[in-house]
Amino acid sequence: MSVPNHFDLLATDGAARTGRLTTPHGVVRTPAFMPVGTAGAMKGLHWREVRDAGADIVLGNTYHLMLRPGAERIAALGGLQRFTTWNGPMLTDSGGFQVMSLAQLRKVSEKAVNFRSHIDGAAIELSPERAIEVQLLLGSDIAMQLDECVRLPAERADIERAMQLSLRWAERCKRAFETAPDGHMLFGIVQGGDVPELRHASARGLIELGFHGYAIGGLAVGEPQEVMLAMIEEAAPILPADRPRYLMGVGTPEDMLEAVARGIDMFDCVMPTRNGRHGVAFTRFGPVNLRNARHADDPRPLDEASDWPSTRNCSRAYLHHLIKSGETLGAMLLSEINIAYYQRLMRDIREAITRGSFETFRMQTRADWEQGDI
Ligand code: GUN
Repeated sequence: MSVPNHFDLLATDGAARTGRLTTPHGVVRTPAFMPVGTAGAMKGLHWREVRDAGADIVLGNTYHLMLRPGAERIAALGGLQRFTTWNGPMLTDSGGFQVMSLAQLRKVSEKAVNFRSHIDGAAIELSPERAIEVQLLLGSDIAMQLDECVRLPAERADIERAMQLSLRWAERCKRAFETAPDGHMLFGIVQGGDVPELRHASARGLIELGFHGYAIGGLAVGEPQEVMLAMIEEAAPILPADRPRYLMGVGTPEDMLEAVARGIDMFDCVMPTRNGRHGVAFTRFGPVNLRNARHADDPRPLDEASDWPSTRNCSRAYLHHLIKSGETLGAMLLSEINIAYYQRLMRDIREAITRGSFETFRMQTRADWEQGDI
């Protein structure tokens, strides 16, 4: 059975693309950055600010939500969009990746991943079928297949075993997703570590099964940036041009700019909110660490030309003071400033691709970052 396509490719410029992905909760303009609202909350931001900053879509986590407050409870309360009041497009990760980083006593078998909850130690089984069931209960617009991601560096045999298991789980997820309401999407995930042949085999296997979109996983897990970009170059050209491509868990502004140049349409990362909580702002002139004492007397804003009010109005001295004093507002302001910066970068990327001047934009943006904060 053919898989319906909800993605419209509007323009390309080299390998870079801009398009529109239509979900049951609205349209996503691509390239898109999805802020991470792990447990039904964007850390440090109100949903209103996430929307105002320009985000079309956010990411939620199956792993966290199934443990607390529980997928069945969220379904009974009307689904994740109503529960959180976000009410827009939502992609959910499938849980395997989070189990690997957070859960205790985890064990991967052909059938499922078994683990103990990091919250109360309860024994949980997450199978491909349960991962899909949970994501359908949440009412996610875009569900992800259950996969196994190995950290790098790793032995080729381990990478290959996890990639093959992920392919078999992709098939089971696809079958479990047959009951999904119209318009909801399921993405397959390319694995294969840093081995080009395994990346090819994974992509081809997924394409044969057929998905609404394709993610590239297993990157930004310990390898150098050039290896990550090389793996995108191996996988992206094989993936169907008319379907969205999502690079999972990436990354820095530079990682995203370079990934767009290689044909990626979607991103998610905790970096803007996590680094914001730790006092780092992302700006047009590169990252600025506001903990640094040199900001204590600086009346200048982070970027006087920004169209985001907090970026343009708050002095560096004030942000420095808030972060040094451990004020909640410091973490809130920097999270908001960073999410707004990431969304502005995506907006500017989309506009440059539409104009056919992505390469000029890329060079100028890189030059601005390299100029550094003065
Ligand atoms: N988030 C970042 N990388 C990955 C990955 O490889 N798989 C999944 N499911 N989520 C991720």
